[in-house]
Amino acid sequence: MANNRTFTMVKPDAVAANNEGNILGDISKAGFRIVAMKKTQLTVADAKKFYEIHAERPFYGELVEFMSSGPIVAAVLEKDNAVEDFRKLIGATNPAEAAEGTIRAKYAKSIGENAVHGSDSDENAAIEIAFHFSGRELF
Ligand code: RTP
Ligand code: MG
Repeated sequence: MANNRTFTMVKPDAVAANNEGNILGDISKAGFRIVAMKKTQLTVADAKKFYEIHAERPFYGELVEFMSSGPIVAAVLEKDNAVEDFRKLIGATNPAEAAEGTIRAKYAKSIGENAVHGSDSDENAAIEIAFHFSGRELF
C-alpha cells in the first residue's frame, strides 16, 4: 500500500458550490482510482482532531470552523506515487499561487476556503484514511 494511496476531502466551499462532481471528474481523469468515498460532515471535534497538527497556527480556529461548517466528500484515492501526484493535481494552498488547470486554481475561493484537501505524506495518508474509513469500506 505504501506510495499508492492518498486521502482527499472536497471541502465545504466546493460542496456548497456544487463542484463535487466536477472535482471528482478531474481526479478520475488524472488517473486516480476511487478506493472509498462518502459524503459526510465533520463535527467541531472531528475537525480539531483531523487538523491538530495545525493547533498552534493562527488560522486553526478559522480552519476548524470552516471544515465543520457543511458537508464534505471524503475519499481514498489510488495511483502510483499518489501523495505527490495528487498534491500536484490540486495545486498550491493559496489558489492565487496555484498553477493553471489545478483543482484549486479552478475551484478554490481563497487560501482558507480552498476546495480540496490532499495528504502531505504517505504516513499522514494512512492516518487520515483510518480516521475516516474502516477496512471494510476500502475497495
Ligand atoms: P490541506 O492540508 O487542507 O490539504 O492544505 P495544505 O496542505 O495545502 O495546507 P496546510 O498548510 O496543511 O493548511 C491546512 C489548511 O488550513 C487552511 N489555511 N488557512 N488563512 C490562512 O493563512 C490559512 N493557511 C492555511 C487552508 O484551508 C489549508 O488548506
Ligand atoms: Mg496540509
